Amino acid sequence: MKGKILVAGGTGYIGSHTTVELQKAGYEVVIIDDLSNSNLEVLDGIEKITGVRPAFYKWDLKDLEGTRKILQEQPGIDGVILFAASKAVGESVKLPLKYYRNNLTTVINMLELMPEFNMKGIVFSSSCTVYGQPDPQYLPVTEEAPIKPALSPYGNTKQINEEIIQDTIHAGAPFKSIILRYFNPIGAHPSAEIGELPNGVPQNLVPYLTQTAMGIRKELSVFGDDYNTPDGSCIRDYINIVDLAKAHVIAMDRMLENKSDQKVEIFNLGTGHGVSVLELVRTFEKATGVKVPHKIVGRREGDIEKVWANPEKANKVLGWKAEVSLADTLESAWKWQLHLREKGIQ
Ligand code: UD1
Repeated sequence: MKGKILVAGGTGYIGSHTTVELQKAGYEVVIIDDLSNSNLEVLDGIEKITGVRPAFYKWDLKDLEGTRKILQEQPGIDGVILFAASKAVGESVKLPLKYYRNNLTTVINMLELMPEFNMKGIVFSSSCTVYGQPDPQYLPVTEEAPIKPALSPYGNTKQINEEIIQDTIHAGAPFKSIILRYFNPIGAHPSAEIGELPNGVPQNLVPYLTQTAMGIRKELSVFGDDYNTPDGSCIRDYINIVDLAKAHVIAMDRMLENKSDQKVEIFNLGTGHGVSVLELVRTFEKATGVKVPHKIVGRREGDIEKVWANPEKANKVLGWKAEVSLADTLESAWKWQLHLREKGIQ
């Protein structure tokens, strides 16, 4: 075994894919998840892919004492990858305290427990949302682009969490951190054993699109075609979920093997290519041969016009690069939707 990693939020979308990649790389994984936005069947999917069922604790990380007990039961954890968080932008505007309480307490508790259990590193899930709408000279976005005032409590929790981690390490905490700023993760594991399982009506583009293609939703609303972009729809950097998961393994290796002198490092994780909503719909239809009924509607409040990554730092320093094409990624999302139908889930 390479080491033992706690994956907080490990049954969620990014957490489950990362668990698979950690296990494939030789790590032992312990998951803590309160199942507030995931379910236990995810563990079956992970086991089908890797042959190993990770240790699992259904637990809310906001409870410091109980989390401490779990860590006492699981001695020898080397590092933590912290996904566990509430992540619906719209909900965060309506329920700000839920977001501040969940997303901040979890991080504070984990940072407090890490030295007690001699953990050497924490990988933290941040988001390109911290850049807001970058000014034109900052596109594609590097890690040096200015942080903009958050547009939602969700976005604000990401900014505050980054600061909490930096301040704690600056104050001498005996561990390292790698903060990963994700662009738009999409797709599913190619085996279709794990993928994204949104609760209720999906808010994000790709799950809504695959549900529409399946006939679960009548049509996809494209939010705006009057933006200052070539076809008028918004531009994002869509990153394959398995590619994204692999970056976490590299980040953990880097901290545990002390490959860097820096105690906190920040990396953008994206492909470096901006894709519009309409381009994505066309690419999906071409890749799968399935039509997606869609109509143009008004802009969605709070949406950013265009943002995509400059991933050079991650490419050079981590030796990580997004590899899977958009077409293959969208095909994997479709395969996952078909798998959900077979299982009678959606
Ligand atoms: C949002 C958040 C991001 C967060 C991510 C995960 C902002 C600014 N960004 O990303 O921080 O990490 O969610 O939940 O809040 N679209 C449609 N029709 C739909 C759904 C989406 O046209 O039914 C369009 C959107 O206008 C957008 C693109 O698809 O241009 C992607 O939207 P979405 O998947 O919701 O992600 P973001 O808003 O980019």
